[in-house]
Amino acid sequence: MKARPMMNRLESVFDIVPMADTIADIGTDHGYLAVELVVRGKAKRVIAGDVHKGPLSSAESYIKSRGLSDVIDCRLGDGLQVTKKGELNGAICCGMGGFLMRDIVEEGPELLEFYVLQPQNGQAELRQYMVKKGYCILKEIIMKDMGKIYTAFLAVRQDLVNHSSHYSNMDFANMNYTVYDRLPFTSILWSVGGVLEKEKPALWNEYIDYLIYQRQCALDGMSKELSHTEKYKQLQIEIDELESVR
Ligand SMILES: C[S@@+](CC[C@H](N)C(=O)[O-])C[C@H]1O[C@@H](n2cnc3c(N)ncnc32)[C@H](O)[C@@H]1O
Repeated sequence: MKARPMMNRLESVFDIVPMADTIADIGTDHGYLAVELVVRGKAKRVIAGDVHKGPLSSAESYIKSRGLSDVIDCRLGDGLQVTKKGELNGAICCGMGGFLMRDIVEEGPELLEFYVLQPQNGQAELRQYMVKKGYCILKEIIMKDMGKIYTAFLAVRQDLVNHSSHYSNMDFANMNYTVYDRLPFTSILWSVGGVLEKEKPALWNEYIDYLIYQRQCALDGMSKELSHTEKYKQLQIEIDELESVR
């Protein structure tokens, strides 16, 4: 079956998904990613989950139209609660808040081999949570889609990382996965991406400029009376930190 191009954001996320038998696409919505995972050979089976009936039925129709209903199982429900222990190798969550993703991982039903996460906010908390749970953040990417900048990362369970044969399309030896080992909890890199900072991909400076701009807008929107608040000082500290990682 022929692959179909997806929007840039999903194409970039697709690239960092390890090859596996069964992967869940949680918050599948249109189902495009679920379909391409099978069509392009990243997964033999996919569980496409969504908490809302409307998005899930669009996914179901699309999957049916591509003739993949026998290998992509659509399930209605909250996060990974729609799956059973032992069913999955990994899960993908795209286009949701980082705090929601953290809850989805936490509520299980089990800790999977890997997660590919593309959070819209709460990046620092999500990365810190994944590392605390025993995951290595192996890959981080920045992508641009319709003028907006997004990031995503691949987290693999620590016990699997030194077995490079586990994922045939992963070269663990060439990954900067120790950057979070001794990173202070206050570092801006939890939010920005420590692997990205090491690798400085093509969009790095544009991404940092965008993060500085966001914080500068927040400062500009604060009145003089707020200039002694912790929030104001924190924003200034973050701008300085961001300037220093450019
Ligand atoms: C903005 S869309 C993103 C769709 C797709 N993943 C993408 O990145 O293009 C978010 C989707 O997540 C679903 N969703 C939100 N909370 C969820 C949860 N707790 N469990 C499963 N799906 C959820 C929504 O119904 C919606 O379809």
